[in-house]
Amino acid sequence: MKPDIENRDDIQLLVDAFYAKVRTDEIIGYLFNDVAKVNWATHLPRMYEFWENVLFQTGNFSGNPMVAHYQLHQKSPLTAGHFSQWQKLFLATVDEFFEGEKAELAKQRALSISAMIQWKVIAGGDKGPLSP
Ligand code: HEM
Repeated sequence: MKPDIENRDDIQLLVDAFYAKVRTDEIIGYLFNDVAKVNWATHLPRMYEFWENVLFQTGNFSGNPMVAHYQLHQKSPLTAGHFSQWQKLFLATVDEFFEGEKAELAKQRALSISAMIQWKVIAGGDKGPLSP
């Protein structure tokens, strides 16, 4: 039996392992490495805060995922195939290390936020990413 996601250390493990896969992924890696040229030293801590907020309501994430992905989409179009690869890697990483209520919640939230980003950013749903 694997442990559940319980604290910030667990979130760091999950996020670090996930982006290690993302960075070398043939389908989506280039979006991070070549298009966005992500500064991992700042992006990873921001993602710890994001997931801590999603799973434990810490209220310490102040970014805007819709705008971030809209900007990326302007530079290089994001597709449903990119999002399904992102989802596959995220779900596989959660299952690799964790099981339990929070692990299930992390997977559910990843899928619902992914659907929301696609709807707003790719489809321009509800007037696009800049509307609340
Ligand atoms: C094809 C799928 C995706 C790609 C290629 C992608 C790529 C990126 C990139 C390049 C950034 C900006 C990083 C930076 O420059 O610092 C970013 C930010 C972010 N992404 Fe994604 N992403 C994807 C899907 C998702 C999904 C599904 C979620 C949530 C479940 C997510 C959550 C975030 C968050 C929270 C930020 C930070 C926003 C901010 O700082 O304001 N991403 N993403």
